[in-house]
Amino acid sequence: MLRLENVSKIYKGGKKAVNSIDLNIEKGEFICFIGPSGCGKTTTMKMINRLIEPSSGKIFIDGENIMEQDPVELRRKIGYVIQQIGLFPHMTIQQNISLVPKLLKWPEQKRKERARELLKLVDMGPEYLDRYPHELSGGQQQRIGVLRALAAEPPLILMDEPFGALDPITRDSLQEEFKKLQRTLNKTIVFVTHDMDEAIKLADRIVILKAGEIVQAGTPDDILRNPANEFVEEFIGKERLLQSRPDIERVEQMMNKKPVTVTADKTLSQAIQVMREHRVDSLLVVDDLNVLQGYVDVEIIDQNRKKASLVGDVLRSDLYTVEQGTLLRDTVRKILKRGMKYVPVVDEQRHLVGIVTRASLVDIVYDSIWGEEDQLVTG
Ligand SMILES: Nc1ncnc2c1ncn2[C@@H]1O[C@H](COP(=O)(O)OP(=O)(O)OP(=O)(O)O)[C@@H](O)[C@H]1O
Ligand SMILES: [Mg+2]
Repeated sequence: MLRLENVSKIYKGGKKAVNSIDLNIEKGEFICFIGPSGCGKTTTMKMINRLIEPSSGKIFIDGENIMEQDPVELRRKIGYVIQQIGLFPHMTIQQNISLVPKLLKWPEQKRKERARELLKLVDMGPEYLDRYPHELSGGQQQRIGVLRALAAEPPLILMDEPFGALDPITRDSLQEEFKKLQRTLNKTIVFVTHDMDEAIKLADRIVILKAGEIVQAGTPDDILRNPANEFVEEFIGKERLLQSRPDIERVEQMMNKKPVTVTADKTLSQAIQVMREHRVDSLLVVDDLNVLQGYVDVEIIDQNRKKASLVGDVLRSDLYTVEQGTLLRDTVRKILKRGMKYVPVVDEQRHLVGIVTRASLVDIVYDSIWGEEDQLVTG
Protein backbone atom coordinates (compact mmCIF):
# COMPACT_ATOMS: atom_id res chain seq x y z
CA MET A 1 0.00 0.00 0.00
CA LEU A 2 2.70 2.46 1.07
CA ARG A 3 6.37 2.04 0.27
CA LEU A 4 9.30 4.22 1.25
CA GLU A 5 12.45 3.52 -0.74
CA ASN A 6 15.71 4.89 0.53
CA VAL A 7 14.06 8.16 1.52
CA SER A 8 16.18 11.00 2.92
CA LYS A 9 15.54 14.61 3.80
CA ILE A 10 18.23 17.18 4.22
CA TYR A 11 16.92 20.59 5.25
CA LYS A 12 18.46 23.82 4.02
CA GLY A 13 21.46 24.41 6.19
CA GLY A 14 22.49 20.77 5.92
CA LYS A 15 20.47 19.20 8.74
CA LYS A 16 19.91 15.55 7.86
CA ALA A 17 16.48 14.95 9.37
CA VAL A 18 15.75 11.61 7.72
CA ASN A 19 18.40 9.23 6.49
CA SER A 20 17.75 6.42 3.99
CA ILE A 21 14.51 5.06 5.30
CA ASP A 22 13.18 1.86 3.73
CA LEU A 23 9.76 0.71 4.78
CA ASN A 24 6.86 -1.29 3.41
CA ILE A 25 3.42 -0.77 4.91
CA GLU A 26 0.61 -3.21 4.15
CA LYS A 27 -2.98 -2.25 3.49
CA GLY A 28 -4.93 -2.15 6.74
CA GLU A 29 -1.78 -2.05 8.85
CA PHE A 30 -1.49 0.20 11.91
CA ILE A 31 2.10 1.47 12.09
CA CYS A 32 3.47 3.53 14.96
CA PHE A 33 6.57 5.66 14.55
CA ILE A 34 8.25 6.26 17.86
CA GLY A 35 11.45 8.00 18.83
CA PRO A 36 12.85 10.98 20.71
CA SER A 37 12.06 14.57 19.80
CA GLY A 38 13.76 15.65 16.60
CA CYS A 39 14.35 12.13 15.26
CA GLY A 40 12.44 12.85 12.06
CA LYS A 41 8.92 11.54 12.71
CA THR A 42 7.00 14.59 11.51
CA THR A 43 9.35 15.03 8.58
CA THR A 44 8.71 11.46 7.46
CA MET A 45 4.94 11.89 7.73
CA LYS A 46 4.97 15.13 5.79
CA MET A 47 6.94 13.56 3.00
CA ILE A 48 4.17 10.98 2.58
CA ASN A 49 1.59 13.67 1.76
CA ARG A 50 4.13 15.95 0.08
CA LEU A 51 3.95 18.77 2.56
CA ILE A 52 7.71 18.23 2.46
CA GLU A 53 9.56 16.88 -0.56
CA PRO A 54 12.23 14.23 -0.03
CA SER A 55 15.80 15.19 -0.93
CA SER A 56 16.26 11.70 -2.35
CA GLY A 57 14.48 8.37 -2.52
CA LYS A 58 10.99 7.45 -3.64
CA ILE A 59 7.59 7.01 -2.04
CA PHE A 60 4.87 4.86 -3.61
CA ILE A 61 1.19 4.64 -2.72
CA ASP A 62 -0.55 1.66 -4.31
CA GLY A 63 2.42 1.31 -6.61
CA GLU A 64 2.28 4.91 -7.84
CA ASN A 65 5.14 7.29 -7.28
CA ILE A 66 3.68 10.20 -5.33
CA MET A 67 6.02 12.67 -7.02
CA GLU A 68 4.19 11.97 -10.25
CA GLN A 69 0.82 12.92 -8.75
CA ASP A 70 -0.75 16.28 -8.22
CA PRO A 71 0.13 17.20 -4.60
CA VAL A 72 -3.25 18.75 -3.85
CA GLU A 73 -5.16 15.76 -5.12
CA LEU A 74 -2.79 13.44 -3.31
CA ARG A 75 -3.44 15.23 -0.01
CA ARG A 76 -7.19 14.95 -0.36
CA LYS A 77 -6.81 11.20 -0.52
CA ILE A 78 -4.81 11.07 2.68
CA GLY A 79 -6.29 11.88 6.07
CA TYR A 80 -3.98 13.95 8.23
CA VAL A 81 -4.18 14.71 11.94
CA ILE A 82 -1.51 17.26 12.75
CA GLN A 83 0.49 17.57 15.94
CA GLN A 84 -1.58 20.02 18.11
CA ILE A 85 -5.12 19.26 16.90
CA GLY A 86 -5.27 22.22 14.50
CA LEU A 87 -9.00 22.91 14.31
CA PHE A 88 -9.88 26.20 12.69
CA PRO A 89 -11.18 28.42 15.50
CA HIS A 90 -13.48 30.52 13.31
CA MET A 91 -15.18 27.49 11.80
CA THR A 92 -17.94 25.45 13.42
CA ILE A 93 -17.41 21.79 14.21
CA GLN A 94 -19.49 20.89 11.16
CA GLN A 95 -17.28 23.06 8.93
CA ASN A 96 -14.12 21.70 10.48
CA ILE A 97 -15.15 18.09 9.93
CA SER A 98 -16.36 18.76 6.40
CA LEU A 99 -13.27 20.53 5.16
CA VAL A 100 -12.11 17.88 2.71
CA PRO A 101 -15.61 16.76 1.64
CA LYS A 102 -16.24 20.39 0.77
CA LEU A 103 -13.06 20.59 -1.27
CA LEU A 104 -14.22 17.43 -2.98
CA LYS A 105 -17.50 19.22 -3.72
CA TRP A 106 -19.80 16.85 -1.87
CA PRO A 107 -23.34 18.28 -1.77
CA GLU A 108 -24.19 20.06 1.47
CA GLN A 109 -26.72 17.49 2.62
CA LYS A 110 -24.24 14.65 2.24
CA ARG A 111 -21.57 16.61 4.15
CA LYS A 112 -23.96 17.22 7.01
CA GLU A 113 -25.00 13.61 7.23
CA ARG A 114 -21.41 12.49 7.19
CA ALA A 115 -20.49 14.89 10.00
CA ARG A 116 -23.40 13.64 12.10
CA GLU A 117 -22.49 10.04 11.48
CA LEU A 118 -18.86 10.68 12.44
CA LEU A 119 -19.81 12.44 15.67
CA LYS A 120 -21.87 9.41 16.57
CA LEU A 121 -18.80 7.21 16.21
CA VAL A 122 -17.23 9.02 19.14
CA ASP A 123 -20.43 9.30 21.17
CA MET A 124 -21.02 12.99 20.52
CA GLY A 125 -24.47 14.24 19.55
CA PRO A 126 -25.48 16.50 16.62
CA GLU A 127 -25.79 19.43 19.04
CA TYR A 128 -22.03 19.89 18.62
CA LEU A 129 -22.25 20.56 14.89
CA ASP A 130 -22.86 24.29 15.26
CA ARG A 131 -20.45 24.91 18.10
CA TYR A 132 -16.99 26.37 17.80
CA PRO A 133 -13.82 24.54 18.86
CA HIS A 134 -13.29 26.70 21.96
CA GLU A 135 -16.67 25.50 23.26
CA LEU A 136 -15.38 21.93 23.42
CA SER A 137 -13.11 20.22 25.93
CA GLY A 138 -9.59 19.29 24.92
CA GLY A 139 -10.55 15.64 24.52
CA GLN A 140 -13.54 16.53 22.37
CA GLN A 141 -11.45 18.79 20.16
CA GLN A 142 -8.98 16.01 19.70
CA ARG A 143 -11.80 13.69 18.65
CA ILE A 144 -12.91 16.23 16.06
CA GLY A 145 -9.36 16.42 14.75
CA VAL A 146 -9.46 12.66 14.23
CA LEU A 147 -12.93 12.75 12.66
CA ARG A 148 -11.83 15.42 10.24
CA ALA A 149 -9.16 13.07 8.96
CA LEU A 150 -11.75 10.32 8.48
CA ALA A 151 -14.40 12.51 6.83
CA ALA A 152 -13.76 11.79 3.17
CA GLU A 153 -13.00 8.12 3.86
CA PRO A 154 -9.37 8.18 2.80
CA PRO A 155 -7.75 4.73 2.70
CA LEU A 156 -4.58 6.13 4.30
CA ILE A 157 -4.42 8.26 7.44
CA LEU A 158 -1.42 10.00 8.93
CA MET A 159 -1.63 10.97 12.58
CA ASP A 160 1.06 13.03 14.26
CA GLU A 161 0.81 12.62 18.05
CA PRO A 162 -2.97 13.02 17.90
CA PHE A 163 -3.45 12.31 21.60
CA GLY A 164 -0.34 14.09 22.83
CA ALA A 165 -2.06 16.94 24.63
CA LEU A 166 -4.51 14.89 26.66
CA ASP A 167 -4.62 13.85 30.27
CA PRO A 168 -3.91 10.14 30.80
CA ILE A 169 -7.50 9.04 31.38
CA THR A 170 -8.99 10.80 28.36
CA ARG A 171 -6.06 9.59 26.37
CA ASP A 172 -6.61 6.01 27.41
CA SER A 173 -10.27 6.06 26.44
CA LEU A 174 -9.62 7.79 23.11
CA GLN A 175 -7.01 5.16 22.32
CA GLU A 176 -9.52 2.42 23.03
CA GLU A 177 -12.12 4.14 20.93
CA PHE A 178 -9.72 4.65 18.11
CA LYS A 179 -8.42 1.11 18.09
CA LYS A 180 -11.96 -0.19 17.84
CA LEU A 181 -12.73 2.28 15.10
CA GLN A 182 -9.70 1.22 13.15
CA ARG A 183 -10.71 -2.44 13.33
CA THR A 184 -14.09 -1.69 11.82
CA LEU A 185 -12.90 0.82 9.20
CA ASN A 186 -9.88 -1.16 8.05
CA LYS A 187 -7.75 1.88 7.20
CA THR A 188 -4.02 2.00 6.81
CA ILE A 189 -2.70 4.20 9.57
CA VAL A 190 0.68 5.77 10.21
CA PHE A 191 0.69 7.08 13.74
CA VAL A 192 3.42 9.06 15.49
CA THR A 193 3.87 8.93 19.24
CA HIS A 194 6.40 9.57 21.97
CA ASP A 195 4.74 7.08 24.22
CA MET A 196 5.74 3.42 24.13
CA ASP A 197 2.62 2.38 26.03
CA GLU A 198 0.52 3.96 23.33
CA ALA A 199 2.53 2.30 20.56
CA ILE A 200 2.28 -1.14 22.17
CA LYS A 201 -1.42 -0.79 22.62
CA LEU A 202 -2.27 0.45 19.14
CA ALA A 203 0.31 -0.76 16.68
CA ASP A 204 0.43 -3.83 14.50
CA ARG A 205 4.01 -2.82 13.91
CA ILE A 206 6.27 -0.34 15.68
CA VAL A 207 9.03 1.53 13.90
CA ILE A 208 11.62 2.94 16.26
CA LEU A 209 13.52 5.93 14.91
CA LYS A 210 16.67 7.58 16.11
CA ALA A 211 18.43 10.50 14.43
CA GLY A 212 16.53 10.00 11.18
CA GLU A 213 17.15 6.27 10.91
CA ILE A 214 15.13 3.14 11.65
CA VAL A 215 16.65 1.39 14.63
CA GLN A 216 14.13 -1.44 14.72
CA ALA A 217 10.80 -2.33 13.14
CA GLY A 218 8.63 -5.16 14.37
CA THR A 219 5.45 -6.20 16.14
CA PRO A 220 5.11 -5.02 19.75
CA ASP A 221 5.88 -8.56 20.84
CA ASP A 222 9.02 -8.80 18.69
CA ILE A 223 10.33 -5.57 20.06
CA LEU A 224 9.59 -6.40 23.68
CA ARG A 225 11.20 -9.82 23.38
CA ASN A 226 14.18 -8.94 21.24
CA PRO A 227 15.07 -5.29 21.54
CA ALA A 228 17.72 -4.54 18.90
CA ASN A 229 20.01 -2.57 21.19
CA GLU A 230 20.30 -0.54 24.39
CA PHE A 231 18.53 2.42 22.90
CA VAL A 232 15.43 0.30 22.27
CA GLU A 233 15.72 -1.32 25.69
CA GLU A 234 15.66 2.10 27.28
CA PHE A 235 12.47 2.93 25.46
CA ILE A 236 10.76 -0.16 26.76
CA GLY A 237 12.26 -0.08 30.22
CA LYS A 238 8.91 0.24 31.93
CA GLU A 239 7.84 -3.15 30.68
CA ARG A 240 10.10 -5.08 33.03
CA LEU A 241 7.27 -5.89 35.36
CA LEU A 242 5.75 -8.32 32.95
CA GLN A 243 8.79 -9.45 31.08
CA SER A 244 9.76 -11.25 34.24
CA ARG A 245 6.87 -13.62 33.61
CA PRO A 246 7.16 -14.33 29.90
CA ASP A 247 5.03 -17.43 30.36
CA ILE A 248 2.00 -15.28 31.08
CA GLU A 249 0.99 -13.28 28.09
CA ARG A 250 -2.65 -13.23 27.29
CA VAL A 251 -5.32 -12.18 29.66
CA GLU A 252 -7.11 -15.55 29.55
CA GLN A 253 -4.06 -17.22 31.02
CA MET A 254 -4.64 -15.62 34.38
CA MET A 255 -8.32 -14.81 34.42
CA ASN A 256 -10.84 -16.52 36.63
CA LYS A 257 -13.09 -18.44 34.27
CA LYS A 258 -16.07 -18.48 36.61
CA PRO A 259 -17.10 -14.91 37.35
CA VAL A 260 -20.11 -14.60 39.61
CA THR A 261 -23.08 -13.46 37.53
CA VAL A 262 -26.76 -12.70 37.75
CA THR A 263 -29.45 -12.09 35.10
CA ALA A 264 -31.46 -8.88 34.85
CA ASP A 265 -34.78 -10.56 35.67
CA LYS A 266 -33.64 -11.49 39.20
CA THR A 267 -34.78 -9.45 42.17
CA LEU A 268 -32.41 -7.32 44.21
CA SER A 269 -32.73 -9.66 47.15
CA GLN A 270 -31.84 -12.63 44.97
CA ALA A 271 -28.79 -10.69 43.82
CA ILE A 272 -27.75 -10.05 47.40
CA GLN A 273 -28.12 -13.73 48.15
CA VAL A 274 -25.80 -14.63 45.30
CA MET A 275 -23.26 -12.11 46.62
CA ARG A 276 -23.48 -13.62 50.09
CA GLU A 277 -23.06 -17.14 48.82
CA HIS A 278 -19.92 -16.26 46.88
CA ARG A 279 -18.53 -13.65 49.27
CA VAL A 280 -18.33 -10.94 46.58
CA ASP A 281 -19.59 -7.36 46.62
CA SER A 282 -20.27 -7.01 42.90
CA LEU A 283 -22.02 -9.13 40.27
CA LEU A 284 -21.72 -9.09 36.50
CA VAL A 285 -25.10 -9.00 34.80
CA VAL A 286 -25.51 -11.24 31.74
CA ASP A 287 -28.44 -12.22 29.55
CA ASP A 288 -29.58 -15.78 28.81
CA LEU A 289 -26.89 -16.15 26.16
CA ASN A 290 -24.21 -14.99 28.60
CA VAL A 291 -23.76 -11.63 26.85
CA LEU A 292 -22.42 -9.08 29.31
CA GLN A 293 -24.88 -6.29 30.05
CA GLY A 294 -23.39 -4.51 33.02
CA TYR A 295 -22.89 -4.89 36.73
CA VAL A 296 -24.51 -4.29 40.07
CA ASP A 297 -22.75 -3.93 43.36
CA VAL A 298 -23.81 -3.81 46.95
CA GLU A 299 -23.73 -0.03 47.01
CA ILE A 300 -26.03 0.35 44.01
CA ILE A 301 -28.46 -2.14 45.45
CA ASP A 302 -28.42 -0.45 48.82
CA GLN A 303 -29.13 2.95 47.28
CA ASN A 304 -32.01 1.64 45.18
CA ARG A 305 -33.64 -0.99 47.33
CA LYS A 306 -36.64 1.23 48.10
CA LYS A 307 -37.18 2.38 44.52
CA ALA A 308 -36.49 -0.72 42.45
CA SER A 309 -37.00 -4.42 42.68
CA LEU A 310 -35.20 -6.00 39.73
CA VAL A 311 -31.54 -6.18 38.83
CA GLY A 312 -32.49 -4.91 35.36
CA ASP A 313 -33.78 -1.65 36.88
CA VAL A 314 -30.53 -0.70 38.54
CA LEU A 315 -27.73 -2.32 36.54
CA ARG A 316 -24.92 -0.06 35.34
CA SER A 317 -23.56 -0.52 31.88
CA ASP A 318 -20.57 1.83 32.15
CA LEU A 319 -18.31 -1.12 32.50
CA TYR A 320 -14.74 -1.38 31.40
CA THR A 321 -13.93 -4.63 29.59
CA VAL A 322 -11.05 -6.24 27.77
CA GLU A 323 -11.32 -8.64 24.90
CA GLN A 324 -10.06 -12.18 25.00
CA GLY A 325 -6.56 -12.31 23.56
CA THR A 326 -5.56 -8.93 24.98
CA LEU A 327 -1.98 -8.83 26.17
CA LEU A 328 -1.84 -9.17 29.88
CA ARG A 329 0.41 -6.17 30.33
CA ASP A 330 -2.26 -3.93 28.78
CA THR A 331 -4.83 -5.27 31.17
CA VAL A 332 -2.58 -4.85 34.15
CA ARG A 333 -1.80 -1.31 33.20
CA LYS A 334 -5.46 -0.54 32.84
CA ILE A 335 -6.40 -2.00 36.19
CA LEU A 336 -3.62 -0.24 38.03
CA LYS A 337 -3.95 3.10 36.25
CA ARG A 338 -7.68 3.36 36.69
CA GLY A 339 -7.82 1.94 40.16
CA MET A 340 -10.33 -0.69 39.09
CA LYS A 341 -11.14 -3.68 41.22
CA TYR A 342 -11.63 -6.02 38.28
CA VAL A 343 -12.00 -6.20 34.53
CA PRO A 344 -14.43 -8.57 32.82
CA VAL A 345 -13.02 -10.44 29.83
CA VAL A 346 -15.34 -10.81 26.83
CA ASP A 347 -15.19 -12.34 23.37
CA GLU A 348 -15.92 -10.45 20.16
CA GLN A 349 -19.66 -10.82 20.61
CA ARG A 350 -19.36 -9.59 24.18
CA HIS A 351 -20.01 -12.98 25.75
CA LEU A 352 -18.55 -13.03 29.21
CA VAL A 353 -15.63 -15.46 29.36
CA GLY A 354 -13.86 -14.52 32.58
CA ILE A 355 -12.67 -11.86 34.97
CA VAL A 356 -9.27 -10.51 36.02
CA THR A 357 -9.28 -9.13 39.53
CA ARG A 358 -6.96 -6.68 41.17
CA ALA A 359 -6.14 -9.26 43.78
CA SER A 360 -4.84 -11.69 41.19
CA LEU A 361 -2.30 -9.10 40.05
CA VAL A 362 -0.56 -9.35 43.39
CA ASP A 363 0.98 -12.62 42.25
CA ILE A 364 2.58 -11.07 39.20
CA VAL A 365 3.90 -8.08 41.06
CA TYR A 366 5.14 -10.31 43.85
CA ASP A 367 6.95 -12.55 41.39
CA SER A 368 8.58 -9.66 39.65
CA ILE A 369 9.88 -8.24 42.93
CA TRP A 370 10.94 -11.65 44.12
CA GLY A 371 12.60 -12.27 40.74
CA GLU A 372 14.65 -9.11 41.12
CA GLU A 373 15.82 -9.89 44.64
CA ASP A 374 16.73 -13.33 43.48
CA GLN A 375 18.88 -11.88 40.76
CA LEU A 376 20.57 -9.60 43.25
CA VAL A 377 21.49 -12.50 45.48
CA THR A 378 22.69 -14.88 42.80
CA GLY A 379 24.10 -12.32 40.37
N1 LIG B 1 11.95 23.36 8.30
C1 LIG B 1 13.04 22.89 8.87
N2 LIG B 1 14.25 23.41 8.62
C2 LIG B 1 15.38 22.93 9.18
N3 LIG B 1 15.40 21.89 10.05
C3 LIG B 1 14.22 21.33 10.35
C4 LIG B 1 12.99 21.79 9.80
N4 LIG B 1 11.98 21.03 10.31
C5 LIG B 1 12.56 20.14 11.13
N5 LIG B 1 13.90 20.30 11.17
C6 LIG B 1 14.86 19.51 11.94
O1 LIG B 1 14.79 18.16 11.48
C7 LIG B 1 14.85 17.24 12.57
C8 LIG B 1 13.61 16.36 12.57
O2 LIG B 1 12.48 17.14 12.85
P1 LIG B 1 11.01 16.51 13.00
O3 LIG B 1 10.07 17.63 13.13
O4 LIG B 1 10.80 15.57 11.88
O5 LIG B 1 11.17 15.72 14.37
P2 LIG B 1 10.09 14.89 15.21
O6 LIG B 1 10.65 13.52 15.33
O7 LIG B 1 8.75 15.04 14.63
O8 LIG B 1 10.18 15.62 16.62
P3 LIG B 1 9.02 15.86 17.74
O9 LIG B 1 8.87 14.56 18.45
O10 LIG B 1 9.62 16.92 18.62
O11 LIG B 1 7.78 16.32 17.03
C9 LIG B 1 15.01 18.09 13.82
O12 LIG B 1 16.37 18.15 14.15
C10 LIG B 1 14.50 19.45 13.41
O13 LIG B 1 15.12 20.46 14.13
MG1 LIG C 1 6.98 15.97 15.33
